[in-house]
Amino acid sequence: MSALEGKKVLVGVTGGIAAYKAPELVRRLRDAGSQVRVVMTAGAEAFITPLTLQAVSGHRVRQHLLDPEAEAGMGHIELARWADEILVAPATAHAIARFAAGLADDLLGTLLLATEARVWLAPAMNRVMWAAPSVRDNCALLESRGVRILGPGSGSQACGEQGQGRMLEPEELVAALAGGGPLAGRRFVVTAGPTHEPLDPVRFIGNRSSGRMGFALAAALAEAGAEVDLVAGPVHLSTPPGVRRHDVQTALAMREAVMGRIGGADGFVGVAAVADYRPAKAAGDKIKKSEASMAVELVPNPDILAEVAALDDRPGLVVGFAAETRDLENAARGKLRAKKLDLIAANRVGDGLGFDAEDNALEVFGADAHWTLSPKPKTALARELVAIISEGLLDEGKPSR
Ligand code: PMT
Repeated sequence: MSALEGKKVLVGVTGGIAAYKAPELVRRLRDAGSQVRVVMTAGAEAFITPLTLQAVSGHRVRQHLLDPEAEAGMGHIELARWADEILVAPATAHAIARFAAGLADDLLGTLLLATEARVWLAPAMNRVMWAAPSVRDNCALLESRGVRILGPGSGSQACGEQGQGRMLEPEELVAALAGGGPLAGRRFVVTAGPTHEPLDPVRFIGNRSSGRMGFALAAALAEAGAEVDLVAGPVHLSTPPGVRRHDVQTALAMREAVMGRIGGADGFVGVAAVADYRPAKAAGDKIKKSEASMAVELVPNPDILAEVAALDDRPGLVVGFAAETRDLENAARGKLRAKKLDLIAANRVGDGLGFDAEDNALEVFGADAHWTLSPKPKTALARELVAIISEGLLDEGKPSR
């Protein structure tokens, strides 16, 4: 279960260009299981319409302090009491100054004074404004009162400049809010993607794994509060927020990267489609075309997952994946036993699922347990699997091997 499951999150949107990210933020908070209400300042309306935020939050957006209709339903004090978390994103320099001064002449300012919820601000502004002494002082004052400041990040800005001041991405904000998740204080090593086994300097043996499932799992573990080392084969994906990434090409390099990081880890999840064999010898020069047929000798690669599970100080939970075209349960249970795993997540490949697809479906087996996770986007599926993993790790009677 996500740490945000069932949480009541009030999102305050103030008037900056980063307000265009607010609908995505609301959507991701809801995906993580939160109930979301939105309050907009007058400035925010210059950048985004209340209707958009109403559509994604599923509730009327509140804009005015003196709103007779709202006072009959959820008034500002009730709204302040309702929230478990208040996240102001984006928080402009002006909004930060108003909160620091305790102004109560609009709905958001009043809510912030009237709430006992945790308050988070995600500043977004030009880099010179962010460095301005008044903004620094206002942030320091708010932090001294317990407000958490998230970011800002750096990079190219809407004003055309480069530097610190960009609002953190919605997924980074959600991960930060979820920080105290069920896996806080736990460390996981995850493998993802294919491996490429070289035949010569330009050719390799590989497979169709895109890395999406493994990256989604790493993101979901981080979202649940875990520290994550992601050992990634060659893929074209960006690193999920809060995840340490180690890029490798071959199975041998993947094994080395995993073994170098596995000591002291609480969990290992092998999502990678590791090549079972590699060419016995990679040619030093590009192999020339000829009319003759050619045989390539292949030698087995080490089984990283089995090696991790056989370690004397193995992680508390070792989870494998299995991609199968037939006889899913028997094949998966066979791997569970042979590799001495705690859990195995089996996916059928084909029909738009599994390898290089957006969606997947999983049958998860423990020695005495079975879960069916129906077809859905890999990001959502990964969260469900992480809920099972968290239970397995937190429960003293974890899935028996
Ligand atoms: O990357 P995507 O496009 O999102 O696709 C996701 C996926 C289909 C690749 C993923 O969901 C998946 O099923 N991964 C496992 C693929 C597989 O076929 O594994 P396997 O049956 O070869 O191996 C079983 C387990 O042993 C896996 O956890 C694998 O990581 C591990 N293994 C296998 C061989 C090896 N030499 N070392 C290993 O660690």
